[in-house]
Amino acid sequence: MNMGYGATMAPQTQPQGTLPNPSSPTRTMRFGSLLIEYDDQVLEPRPWTAHQSHWAGDLLTTAPPGPVLELCTGAGQIGLLTIAATYRELVAVDLDPAAGELARRNAGQAGLASRVEVRQGDLQEVLGPHERFPLVVAGPPYLGADERDLYPATHASRSTADRAAWRSCGAACP
Ligand SMILES: C[S@@+](CC[C@H](N)C(=O)[O-])C[C@H]1O[C@@H](n2cnc3c(N)ncnc32)[C@H](O)[C@@H]1O
Repeated sequence: MNMGYGATMAPQTQPQGTLPNPSSPTRTMRFGSLLIEYDDQVLEPRPWTAHQSHWAGDLLTTAPPGPVLELCTGAGQIGLLTIAATYRELVAVDLDPAAGELARRNAGQAGLASRVEVRQGDLQEVLGPHERFPLVVAGPPYLGADERDLYPATHASRSTADRAAWRSCGAACP
């Protein structure tokens, strides 16, 4: 499978949780076998995270039935590439409406819209207490609150989402 390396990184400035800005110019990059659209409102897809999708895809060959959950999906590329070569469904979650919009658009562009449900909201609020997923993928915020100003591209600080993400992983796995 094509790993899709070679994209350039660009600084991001849009704060998290704002309404989508339709005038924000979009760019497209190859992410594995997919073409992914993104803009300054989300983190630019990091090509090496395609490894996560391929690893997850391997795990799916022996995982129990059920949809994949992706937390903090951004433009959706990690989750979309995970299910692209399977028959699985994907539930993709992001707090940011702009991210949700791009993830939906990218699902459509990949021909996966019928298998993808994007839930826009806090990951602690958009999953039902009895929902279970055989596999969870996540590229959550990874900086502390005091580091975020240095790297606005991360779109949220660790303190706002990572502990919640790991708690949700624990709760959502069988
Ligand atoms: C570092 S970006 C990563 C995006 C994508 N996973 C990637 O690797 O390109 C973190 C994402 O987490 C989302 N996020 C932050 N806090 C969240 C929360 N409480 N619930 C859901 N999504 C959240 C942000 O909106 C942002 O899109």
